[in-house]
Amino acid sequence: MISPNTIQQITNRIDIIDVVGEFVKLKKRGTNYLGLCPFHNEKTPSFTVSPAKEIYKCFGCGKSGNTIGFVMEHEKCSYVEALRWLAARYNIEVEETETSPEQKLQQQTADSLYAINHFAQRFFSEQLFEGSEGQTIAMSYLKERGFRNEVLQKFQVGYNPEARDTLTRALLTNQFSREVLPKTGLVSVRNEELVDNYRGRIIFPIHGITGKIIGFGARVIGKSDRGPKYINTPENEIYTKSKILYGAYFARMAIDKADECLLVEGYTDVVSLHQAGIENVVASGGTSLTTDQLRLIKKYTNNLTIIYDGDSAGVKAALRGLDMALEESLNVRLVLIPDNEDPDSYVNKVGTRAFNEFVAASKKDFIIFQLEVMLKEAGNDVTKKSDVVNQVAETLSKISRAEDFTKQQDYIRQCSSLLRIDESGLTNLVNKYKRDRITKEEKRAAGQEQAALPPQEFQGQPEDVLDETQLLLQQDEAHERNLLRVLLDYGLRDWDDTQKMADHIFEELQDFHFENQQLEKLFEEYRSWYQRGLEPTTRTLLYHEDEQIRQAVVNISVVPFELSQNWDEVMEMKIVGVDNSRQDVSSSVNFFKLQKIKKLIEQNQRDMEHASYDDFKMLHEVHNHLKQLETSITNQMHTVIIK
Ligand code: UTP
Ligand code: MN
Repeated sequence: MISPNTIQQITNRIDIIDVVGEFVKLKKRGTNYLGLCPFHNEKTPSFTVSPAKEIYKCFGCGKSGNTIGFVMEHEKCSYVEALRWLAARYNIEVEETETSPEQKLQQQTADSLYAINHFAQRFFSEQLFEGSEGQTIAMSYLKERGFRNEVLQKFQVGYNPEARDTLTRALLTNQFSREVLPKTGLVSVRNEELVDNYRGRIIFPIHGITGKIIGFGARVIGKSDRGPKYINTPENEIYTKSKILYGAYFARMAIDKADECLLVEGYTDVVSLHQAGIENVVASGGTSLTTDQLRLIKKYTNNLTIIYDGDSAGVKAALRGLDMALEESLNVRLVLIPDNEDPDSYVNKVGTRAFNEFVAASKKDFIIFQLEVMLKEAGNDVTKKSDVVNQVAETLSKISRAEDFTKQQDYIRQCSSLLRIDESGLTNLVNKYKRDRITKEEKRAAGQEQAALPPQEFQGQPEDVLDETQLLLQQDEAHERNLLRVLLDYGLRDWDDTQKMADHIFEELQDFHFENQQLEKLFEEYRSWYQRGLEPTTRTLLYHEDEQIRQAVVNISVVPFELSQNWDEVMEMKIVGVDNSRQDVSSSVNFFKLQKIKKLIEQNQRDMEHASYDDFKMLHEVHNHLKQLETSITNQMHTVIIK
């Protein structure tokens, strides 16, 4: 890990205008800077940077964050990688904290694996391009398949000679550790001797996202039945199959630009398409996509187009688990290449233009594709067909983000027509699945909540409840954010002779809790820093190691509040040049409490409507108590306003 001292130095030195300015042309507008957003295509600038708050926000696509977040997003890297990047930029020496012996060993192994792979790649390329065996056996085969030098060099393709230990001897001469070598998969142990593992094979190096070589795919030449067609690197400290997409390193810019990622099955498909000038392409290795792989794609684009050979078993594999893609708002389309061709052979046969045209014309939405396959399998069987209807409804119910609402409507229309059922019937079914899931989630959440407050379950029609809950939540959240804003801004100032503002806020909110978990987390983290004598502020928490906390701080700083009118009244009383912090804290606390109490009163009233006589008496007392609280807070607020 990077030491806190180094992180401190980096955050002190960061200049957001300087860092963002390296990638975006910024113009000064008032206190802020404005430019064209690097994260989406736009013609009029809506990307703003605030040097005072040290944050950026795009009002077009909604992306926002701090300087480190910007580097992470722009360079698609981790928090630690972004810190290293910034350290390098500002010439800050990175000091590592003490690591455990195991961590150290793992790091050392990873370093050796990278070094060995780097050496092996150069060795294989030399064999292919300069070795006589490489030329006569491997290069002639590659040429026959239509691969040209340029693309082979770009992908650093190579060849491992037939003899039993050509590579092994080179590795040992160069002092690479005998213990680590077998982990690479490049060599194996035979009778206590090391021998080459990829003899007589063409080698496709696999590049990690920073371009370093993390593994290899080794293909037999021609249609040999000597062992499997490909041998791949075993899992080790630097190679995790489920996280890798072959070609991602070479495709990232093109995917970003095209706002679409093409997914194929094989190494040769990627290389051939690149040669044909189609560069936004990665390969899965023919297995079903993992969550990690989908996330990797989603870093660059929301549009995934799967291009598979029509007869391949890979199609079914690829479709498995794609429901998760829906939840992530990925648009998945499918193209099947006909006649036993795969993308490599097809592009070689028809050329770039026809290939692109074919893809554009035969792209099929994967939900519709799945539905058609299922319908075909169900045939005339009524039970099977009703299973299909349920499955489709469940799938569609997973499209749950508000911004995807129209998309869901579209699907419902298309699917109901394919299923020959009533559109409104399907809508109801989709909503039922959605409600079931929400209820399940609420139950789970309720189970985790502390018993300090009465249960928040609503009665009445489920549909109404949804809207109502959502409205309340929005209001709630505005007040929750506002409270955190004053805590971050003024928490460390004096409330009176004995207390800081933060102490006052903690005391006042003892019996209340947050609805929004992200905000709650920030609140608790603030409290914990404060109690340990650290100095939590927007500035320091903005560089917290936890992504959720950083995001919460950013949200509080940039999102305008939709608060009630009263609150504006209070704020209008602000006299310029006078410190209003005490009043700001006090009203924010009161509005926060008032909002929560109002919610409790509403809930209680609902309970009273359905209560038995005994319960009613009890609930009525609760009601009176809550009303008293409400009045006392309102009175207090009026006093403040009149003062
Ligand atoms: P394919 O059999 O379609 O091979 O496997 P390919 O990539 O089209 O290769 P060519 O064109 O015949 O030379 C698709 C992918 O499945 C994985 C590899 O990643 C391969 O690129 N695979 C296949 C293996 O890992 N092992 C195998 O034995 C076969
Ligand atoms: Mn192929």
